Amino acid sequence: MGESPTQSGNRVQPTDIRLGRIVRLLMENATVVVSGTKIAQDISSNRSEVWRLVQQLRGLGVDVAGHPATGYRLKSVPDLLLPEILGPLLRGTIFNLQLHHFYKIGSTNTAAMAAAADGAPQGSVFLAEEQTAGRGRGAHSWHSARSTGIYCSVVLRPSLPPSDVLVLSLAAGLAVCAAIEQIDARVKLDLKWPNDVLIAGKKVCGILAEMNAEVTRVRYVVVGIGMNVNQPNFPKELDASATSLCLATGNEWSRVELTAALLKSLDREYRLLTEPKIGQKDARRSILQRFTEQSSWVRGKAVRIEDNGSRVEGTTEGLDDRGFLQVRTAQGLQTILSGTVRER
Ligand code: BTN
Repeated sequence: MGESPTQSGNRVQPTDIRLGRIVRLLMENATVVVSGTKIAQDISSNRSEVWRLVQQLRGLGVDVAGHPATGYRLKSVPDLLLPEILGPLLRGTIFNLQLHHFYKIGSTNTAAMAAAADGAPQGSVFLAEEQTAGRGRGAHSWHSARSTGIYCSVVLRPSLPPSDVLVLSLAAGLAVCAAIEQIDARVKLDLKWPNDVLIAGKKVCGILAEMNAEVTRVRYVVVGIGMNVNQPNFPKELDASATSLCLATGNEWSRVELTAALLKSLDREYRLLTEPKIGQKDARRSILQRFTEQSSWVRGKAVRIEDNGSRVEGTTEGLDDRGFLQVRTAQGLQTILSGTVRER
């Protein structure tokens, strides 16, 4: 308790849970003024500490009216990914028990990998308002401006061989598309192998799946999802390649609603793959088929793939059974294991 919201020494601290409690209390009493004394009782603290915490909330963009003498009132529902706000929307999924929120962190994937190594249970979610060292695939960085995007990493412990983890990461791309389409069916999404989500050729979401495995058994997988949601613009170097949902649709999106839709749809895909019931035996085939249908890149696209100095050029010819991209080159059919795919 009483931690700084960001750093304490070298350790990044999760968000003070009292902030979430204050927001919940104010949300439950949305139309009335709640006295500082009542809030202080609720969080087992005193009125001056309540004032300090309210100031912190304001710093995060939460619109709270009032002061210690009059009490406090929420002027609008905050779009913060706090466990108290998100948790109730995730009932029935594997993601509603261990929600960790950070105002500022290096990388949610790094935090989730470290927590998983320390035994964090399946379904643990790491969310940040801002990342200072957001990581992308192939040692790229991920632009993670404050409270405009969704920076989310989940810990999974699937009973799958390591060779099936690519299919799981393809399924994460499908889950992202389903979540966006559920909120606005007019958005036209494309999937670029292995799991970039594009709107009109520009990237709106990237996925970084990392794992720790034995040769035949996965210990844990961290699926990190970065979604560009309400960014009004991007740094110059990203301007030509990145877009946000807000830029694409012309309206602001609720990050809370979208994160909840995303985690619910990821939960569905994950269960389909790891708990196959009768009749759903071919979950993996279904994922490969749906990915192929949703993507303009998997078949018939003239591409160039660069990976660690090597270069392959050809035309895409579908996915193989494990989810790798097949490319017809001048030398014959080649299976692409990794790399960045670009249109020629
Ligand atoms: C890519 O397209 O290169 C993958 C980008 C993945 C970014 C997300 S943001 C949340 C999580 N934490 C990270 O450091 N990276 C992933």
